Order: sequence, then structure tokens, then C-alpha cells
Amino acid sequence: MTRIAVIPGDGIGVEVTQSARAVLDAAASRYALELRYESFDWSCRRWSDTGVMMPADAIDTLRAFDAVLLGAVGWPGVPDHVSLWGLLIPIRRSFRQYANVRPIKVFDGLQSPLRTAGPGLVDLVVVRENVEGEYSEIGGRLNRGFPDEMAVQESVFTRVGVERIARHGFELARSRRSRLTSATKSNGIVHTLPFWDEVVAEVGGDYPDVDWDSEHIDALAAKLVLDPGRFDVIVGSNLFGDILSDLTAAIAGSIGIAPSANLDPTHTHPSMFEPVHGSAPDIAGQGRANPVGAVWSASMMLDHLGHEAAASALLGAVEDSLRDPATRTPDLAGTASTDQVTARLVELVTD
Ligand code: IPM
Ligand code: MN
Repeated sequence: MTRIAVIPGDGIGVEVTQSARAVLDAAASRYALELRYESFDWSCRRWSDTGVMMPADAIDTLRAFDAVLLGAVGWPGVPDHVSLWGLLIPIRRSFRQYANVRPIKVFDGLQSPLRTAGPGLVDLVVVRENVEGEYSEIGGRLNRGFPDEMAVQESVFTRVGVERIARHGFELARSRRSRLTSATKSNGIVHTLPFWDEVVAEVGGDYPDVDWDSEHIDALAAKLVLDPGRFDVIVGSNLFGDILSDLTAAIAGSIGIAPSANLDPTHTHPSMFEPVHGSAPDIAGQGRANPVGAVWSASMMLDHLGHEAAASALLGAVEDSLRDPATRTPDLAGTASTDQVTARLVELVTD
């Protein structure tokens, strides 16, 4: 039996999580998996009602599960740093989900905004360091309200942290096309990123079969636009990986299809799976949300839990549904509703 904690969260997170569950259920009956869900209403609504995003014992509650399936977090009226540091980020950190793995592909039938990115030509993964780096709690604000008001925030790069994310990237590259690019900025950021480069190079020494290079983040952004097909695995710090994964999702045609896996690769703690997109207040509740990002994330969850056949069935269904214009949502220039896409995905997984 597999225990899954479901946190639909806010806005379209609720709609796409429901879709992911429906498709997961179809896979469970086809592959004889016993998936047991428990749903938690931790969200901005809960914050408005109770003053907290999730209860004080939330992390301990989640500890008992095999995985967490999350929709989206954030809603107008609740400051983003309050909602995210009250829910998403503490889960990533408490469960040492240090690898945020974000694949994208330009699927058959979809149009990238880039002329150079035809279907089948772009297939890459951003491996984002997920628990340290620029997202640090170290810092503070002084002299609030005075002319000399100031804010300081320290970036934190540890040898353990850089080494393990680099290793995760190299291992993944080895299982794919054996190409890796490390995102850096060691020409401008003189302490942390030269250190990042040194550690990545040390780890790279253990992977002579992986062809790797290092690119400054500014040039890398430009190269991703000019020639996205040359990339396989891109490993980057927390902030660089965050920015690159929105860019690569856009290259794939819509942020609505992009998945992410927040992994504790040691399997000591539950890992968490969530689409890259947010709660999208502008379309929430309209039945227009693209469920693909959530369903692909659910596929990554099944893969992480060792259910490879079911995982590929979900991804295969996504691929087939995207090929057909009748099952594309408005973000992909289609007219299908969330429910119509979901029904088709369920059908494809059941077949
Ligand atoms: C993401 C999101 C989050 C992040 C925000 C909402 C804090 O942008 O998962 O990419 O920056 O990690
Ligand atoms: Mn992001």
C-alpha cells in the first residue's frame, strides 16, 4: 500500500490535483497498485481563517506518508513570502528534498514560441538545488522606515549541498544522453560560485563518460533561447534553477505542462511532486487549467516510488493527449476544459 498526502492548496492547484488523482486512480486499477490518499486543506484560505498555512505538527503528519502531491500555493491578499515560507518551503527543507528535478520536452503537436524548437528536438531536465543557496533564512532588515533602511540576505553554499546536487545531475545525465551543463556566475559572484564550480569539477571527475561544461547564467539563458536542443541536463543553484525552469517550460510551449519532483533521493523522507505553475488566480475555478503539469508530476511520483510501468503509462497518455488538438487547454491554443483533458487521460491510461 502506498500512502499519498494530497495538498491541493490554492486556485487551480485544487482543479489540477483532482485531475492527477483521477489519472492516478486509472493507473492504480490497471497496474494493481494500492494508492491510499489523505487530503489536507493547508492553503491561503486556511491562513485567512486561522492565521497559519498549516498546523504546527504538519511536518510530523506528513512524515508518515510515502509521498506528497501538491497543487499550488499562493493567493492575492496573502503576501507570497508568508504563504510559501508557511507551507512549500518548510516541506522541501524539513524533508531534505534537495533535488528539484524539472524535465521538459517539446511534445509532438505543440508549438514552441522558438522557431528552433520543433517537436522532438528539445528534451532536457533542469536539476535545481532545492534547500540552500540564495533561498536562505540568514539575513534581516534594519532601520525599518528610516532613510537608512536596509536588508541583507546571505547565500549559503555548502560542500555537501553542492556535491550532492552535482552528483544527482551527473547520475541523471548518465541515464540520458550523457550531457551536462552547470549554471554558474563565477565571473561576477566571487565567493559562492567559484566554490560551486570547483565542487562541480571535482564531482565531474568521477563521470568521465559525461560530456559536461559550465556556462554563466546570462549566456546560458541566451543559448537556451538560441539553441535549446543542445541541452540535456542543466544543474544549477536554487535561484538559477528556479529561473531556468520557467524559461525552459516556456520554451516547451506552456508553463501549464511543466512538472517538478522535489526529491529526497535517499528515500529517508517523503518526496513532494507539484506542477511548476502556480495557483493562477486569473483562471481559477473556470475549468480551464491545464492538468498536464500535475499529471506529469504524478508520473514522476510513481517513478520515484518504483512503479515505473504505471509512471510511463501516465507520461505516454500525456504525450498522446497533447498530439490531439481536441484535448489541448487554452494555454496551448486549444478549447478543451480541464475535465475533458482529464477524461481523455483516464481513457488512455485505462486502454
Ligand atoms: C517554484 C516557485 C517557488 C520557488 C516559489 C513559489 C517560492 O517559483 O517552485 O519554482 O521559487 O521555489
Ligand atoms: Mn519558480
